[in-house]
Amino acid sequence: MPDGKTDLKLRRLELKDEAAFLLALKDWSDEDRAWFTWHWEPGVAFSEVLSRLDREATGTGIPNHLVPATMYYAFQGERIVGRLHLRHRLNQALSVRGGHIGYAVAPGFRDKGLATEILRQGLVLAASIGIESVMITCADENVASWRVIENNGGELEKVFSDEKNGELVRKYWLSTRGLRGEDITHNE
Ligand SMILES: CC(C)(COP(=O)(O)OP(=O)(O)OC[C@H]1O[C@@H](n2cnc3c(N)ncnc32)[C@H](O)[C@@H]1OP(=O)(O)O)[C@@H](O)C(=O)NCCC(=O)NCCS
Repeated sequence: MPDGKTDLKLRRLELKDEAAFLLALKDWSDEDRAWFTWHWEPGVAFSEVLSRLDREATGTGIPNHLVPATMYYAFQGERIVGRLHLRHRLNQALSVRGGHIGYAVAPGFRDKGLATEILRQGLVLAASIGIESVMITCADENVASWRVIENNGGELEKVFSDEKNGELVRKYWLSTRGLRGEDITHNE
C-alpha cells in the first residue's frame, strides 16, 4: 500500500472533482474556510469555482492589488487533503508578507508529513514558471509551518513584526535551482 506522501498529487481542479471538493469543504468546516478555498461560498456552483480559479491563474479581470496565481489541490486518490496557492510573482504587499506560496492541510490529515511533501512539489511547480527563489512567510508561532519550510531547505531572512497587527512573522527564501523540468510525482 502506498504511503501518504508518495501517492500525493498536486493538480488543478477539474469538473470531475466536484464530489471531492464538497467532501473537503466538510473536512475543513471547523476552520476558517480560506485555508481550503476563497473561490466558493454558499450558493456558488462548482463550475463557477473553476471559472474563478481560471481567471485568477490567467490574471483575467483580477483587481490591481492581486497578481496572477494558481491554486493546486493535493489529492490522495480521490480525496483532497490539502492545497497550495502559487503566486506567479511578488507585488509590494506580498514581498512584505505572503510571498509566492501559501499552503494548508485538512485538519484530519495533519502531522503526517503531507505539507512538507506539498511544498516540495510546489517548489517544482514554481520552478516550472521560472521562479528561482521562492519567498514564504509564516507566523512565528506557527511552528508546524516553519518546520515545513525548513524541511524544504528554507533559509530564514528575518523575523519581523507585522505593522498591521504586531504579529511576529518569519520570512524565508527557498531556492528552486535544479528543479525546473522535474516531474513532481518523482519521489526518492
Ligand atoms: C501548517 C500545516 C500546513 C502543517 O501541515 P502538516 O501536514 O501537519 O505538516 P507536516 O506533517 O509536514 O509537519 C511538518 C513538521 O511540523 C511538525 N508539526 C506538525 N503539527 C505540529 C503542531 N501542531 N505543532 C508543532 N509541530 C507540528 C511535524 O512534526 C513536522 O516536524 P518535523 O519536520 O520536525 O518532523 C497545517 O498545520 C495547516 O494546514 N495549518 C493551517 C494552515 C496554515 O497554517 N498554513 C501555513 C500558513 S504559513
